[in-house]
Amino acid sequence: MQIHSQIPELRRALANRGRVVLVPTMGNLHAGHIALMTEARAHGDTVVASIFVNRLQFGPSDDFDLYPRTLQDDCDKLSAAGVDLLFAPSESDLYPEAQQYHVEPPPSQNQLDGEFRPGHFRGVATVVLKLFNIVQPQAALFGKKDYQQLMVLRNMTRQLALPIDIIGGETVRADDGLALSSRNGYLSAAERYEAPRLQRLLQRIGTAIRAGETDFARLEREAASELDQHGWKTDYIAVRRQADLQLPDDDRKQALVVLAASRLGAARLIDNLEIDARDGR
Ligand code: PAF
Repeated sequence: MQIHSQIPELRRALANRGRVVLVPTMGNLHAGHIALMTEARAHGDTVVASIFVNRLQFGPSDDFDLYPRTLQDDCDKLSAAGVDLLFAPSESDLYPEAQQYHVEPPPSQNQLDGEFRPGHFRGVATVVLKLFNIVQPQAALFGKKDYQQLMVLRNMTRQLALPIDIIGGETVRADDGLALSSRNGYLSAAERYEAPRLQRLLQRIGTAIRAGETDFARLEREAASELDQHGWKTDYIAVRRQADLQLPDDDRKQALVVLAASRLGAARLIDNLEIDARDGR
């Protein structure tokens, strides 16, 4: 695997590489990232991973300084996964001057995660557009665990007419259902034992909706209250339309997704569950 930190070098290395597929990451790679790398191989000739902890998407009380940086270990995993090139710029490689031009997603960026992390999606969209311009991939993969992020990036790509296929990768889970995340490393042993409750509650909401429940607000309230009773601090649990993450309407066939973010100790965990169109009743 070639490793580049400088943009001109990377561009030279990418000349005549056929269809390029990019998997952007912030490093501290786990099996979820590696599944994206493996899937990327099916979508092109050259798989490029990037590792960059993007200051622009962290708020003042977020974990930018704490965020685990594990480059050597990440390189070993990427190499073993058959990734062709790694782009791992330093902050001064990617932001040699203060970034004054930004991608401003529409006001829906301020709901769900955006309500609790103001400016987060602006920072994500800005760095991803920059990575797209540097790597010029024909396809890019992002995990569905960050569901709202995937939607923001899909919409950005479509609205700015970028010639890039955006592919969502399924969430990879531990045996007990916990979605793999770099932030799971912040959990104590007791919190790690408690953490799968989040996915279990989402499954319970999914089962209720598939069985015909339409009082989504009650389901959300009950799940949040159960989390709170077990020591979590919940930012949101929300049933939304898959298509645009807006509130569901009365169309019983719409595909839904339930999204959640809650804090357990020092970790802010997010997860979601897609619920198929409700036409089976
Ligand atoms: O999902 C992530 O790891 C980051 O938000 C991304 C897409 C690499 C942008 O920094």
